Amino acid sequence: MKILHFSDIHYWKIQIGSDPYYPKRFLGLMNLVFSRKNHFPPPLADTVINAIRQEEADAVLFSGDLTTTSLESEFKKAADSFAPLYEKWGDQLIVIPGNHDRYTPSSVKAKFYEEYFPDAFAGMGSRVFSKPLNDHLCVIGFDASRPFMVRSNGTFTESLRKELDNEFSKIRKNYQNVILMGHFPYAYPANIPSKFHHKLIGQERLAELISEYNPIAYLHGHKHVRWCLKDPATKQTLCINAGPAGMSSSDPDKHAGWVVFDVNESGDVTKIIKVHLSSEGETIRETVDLSKL
Ligand SMILES: [Fe+2]
Ligand SMILES: [Fe+2]
Repeated sequence: MKILHFSDIHYWKIQIGSDPYYPKRFLGLMNLVFSRKNHFPPPLADTVINAIRQEEADAVLFSGDLTTTSLESEFKKAADSFAPLYEKWGDQLIVIPGNHDRYTPSSVKAKFYEEYFPDAFAGMGSRVFSKPLNDHLCVIGFDASRPFMVRSNGTFTESLRKELDNEFSKIRKNYQNVILMGHFPYAYPANIPSKFHHKLIGQERLAELISEYNPIAYLHGHKHVRWCLKDPATKQTLCINAGPAGMSSSDPDKHAGWVVFDVNESGDVTKIIKVHLSSEGETIRETVDLSKL
């Protein structure tokens, strides 16, 4: 089975929003106007979606940050852009939200994410869901994002741990292998430190749960760098960061792209390819040396 994983496309609109006094709304707008809009050019996101649509994959997984400041107009743009992907992959396109999709309390309360991506979670209000990919393999997704007044953290709380624990127990009865998808990393490459204001609070709790259930892979985004690694605390699980789909950078691992990987019937990941777009919009592929992970 071939799986395409992408993340962090960050559609944006410059608007005040209905909650101008919430600190993050103001900070997010300033950051967008003076920095982010130059790093996430809208035509690049459109090129990426078109290129992904041309890919051969059995399932497509998106690990969060559809939007930049959770405006309704951003969710609408994201939903319109993802429509051709839903058309091609149907329920084998699986989407979870990131912290930018849970940006302010009023945007969460308005349920823009749930309204524009109704197939993303099985039930409204649930932060954990699962979806089978075939008879042996199931994806479990979870949402650890909630608004923070200033910072960009996620929270892996004890109640979320329990929900995820229950889902793992349930799924393990019927499926031999599981892919877990969240938005935030819990492990980082040695040269990329985790930052306090950006990390998943409770990441140790997540690592502990992963070491107990050993999903074959943990897919995430959030840190805008494409990487694959194995953490010593969770040796059975490949951590795959798809990197940003919408960002422009001279560094190939930070430039718009995605990851494609193959899983055989035994649940072994047999091949991983990091993909990014050239300045001409061509796909450039780099096979990851699995023996070095
Ligand atoms: Fe992001
Ligand atoms: Fe993020």
